Amino acid sequence: MSALRVRVWRGGADGRFQEFDVPRHESQTVLDVVTHIQRHLDPTLAYRFACRVGMCGSCAMTVNGTPRWTCRTHVDKVAGSGVLEVAPLTNLPVVRDLVADMGEFFDKWAKARGQFKPTRTRGDDFAVVRPDDAARQEADAGIECIGCGVCYSACDVVKWNRDYLGPAALNRAWTLVNDARDAGQAERLRAVAGDAGCHSCHTHMSCTEHCPKELSPTRSIAGLKRATISLALSGEEP
Ligand code: SF4
Ligand code: SF4
Ligand code: FES
Repeated sequence: MSALRVRVWRGGADGRFQEFDVPRHESQTVLDVVTHIQRHLDPTLAYRFACRVGMCGSCAMTVNGTPRWTCRTHVDKVAGSGVLEVAPLTNLPVVRDLVADMGEFFDKWAKARGQFKPTRTRGDDFAVVRPDDAARQEADAGIECIGCGVCYSACDVVKWNRDYLGPAALNRAWTLVNDARDAGQAERLRAVAGDAGCHSCHTHMSCTEHCPKELSPTRSIAGLKRATISLALSGEEP
């Protein structure tokens, strides 16, 4: 059986790559490779995963320089040269080895007012929102985000400006701006209109190109730009 040369990040931000040889097998994923190393070669290797089927988003890492879900990335697709390099997601602090600290990523969801704020109580009837309603369709386009952080890691503006809210938090804000049941709109538009918000996006589409769910945070951010500008032009404070 042939072997794959794998370079794996070890330690914190000041760590280094360590090399391992891992046996190849058919339909092998990058997560299979990392798991083999942890189970058979070095049990101290830290990494994160849960579902193995592209549902949880927790296995995201940098694979040969690109942020990806490792459970849905086949080795054949990315290691044509016979070398695989696996590192934690960039643009986030490193906890240890392949584990990135997602704290600031989710803090930014909160800063972008990514929490649903209900207008109704338990005693009220369900809100009726028609499937063909334009705002609902806008919300539907971004709602499948599972918070994996791949887009955040792919975004150069996050790299340059650590305060930038980033594509996932802004995508979430846009889904809620289009949610007729939500009561937090003024606060949300204020939160995303500032220096660290939607107007810092350079629209270079890296988030959209890398999102494994094929969502378009770029499109959502464009929607936020329009919404905050029209509010400003109307003379109202966002
Ligand atoms: S928008 Fe896509 S890449 Fe970004 S966190 Fe959501 S699912 Fe992951
Ligand atoms: S389109 Fe905007 S949010 Fe997406 S990667 Fe580019 S700068 Fe970042
Ligand atoms: S382990 Fe859940 S998406 Fe990869």
